[in-house]
Amino acid sequence: MVALYINGVHHELDVSPEMPILWAVRDVVGLTGTKFGCGVAACGACTVHLDGKAIRSCVTPVSAAAGRHVTTIEGLAPEGKEHPLQAAWVEDQVPQCGYCQSGQIMSAAALIKKTPNPSDKEIEAAMSGNICRCGCYERINSAIRRAAHETANA
Ligand code: FES
Ligand code: FES
Repeated sequence: MVALYINGVHHELDVSPEMPILWAVRDVVGLTGTKFGCGVAACGACTVHLDGKAIRSCVTPVSAAAGRHVTTIEGLAPEGKEHPLQAAWVEDQVPQCGYCQSGQIMSAAALIKKTPNPSDKEIEAAMSGNICRCGCYERINSAIRRAAHETANA
């Protein structure tokens, strides 16, 4: 049994402690916004937050989250209040196929929480581990800059 918070809700999961957080949130809790890409921490599709930091949920055992807070894409906009990144994503029409996008947004959200006005270099460093097979990188970076700018001027 592993007890943790997922998107602010307390869960006691009857799973092996070694189960990756990815499968706990998708298969046990039923939150399918977090995606499986490579399974070896190489693509970023599975990115979630653990106590506010971006992590690769495909290689992080659920035991590492015991007593802690996991946030998935479904929990990024609590009470329906749109996250500035989500608004910017829509404004810039970022996704193509969409598969990588929840991981991209979760990495970007961790970045702008820590660094509200990131430089291009900081964006590149924070996002370099998130692969997009559709090649939407320009729009991803532009949406991050837009969200940071709009947050700073809110
Ligand atoms: S599925 Fe986790 S990094 Fe690719
Ligand atoms: S939008 Fe298709 S992989 Fe990124």
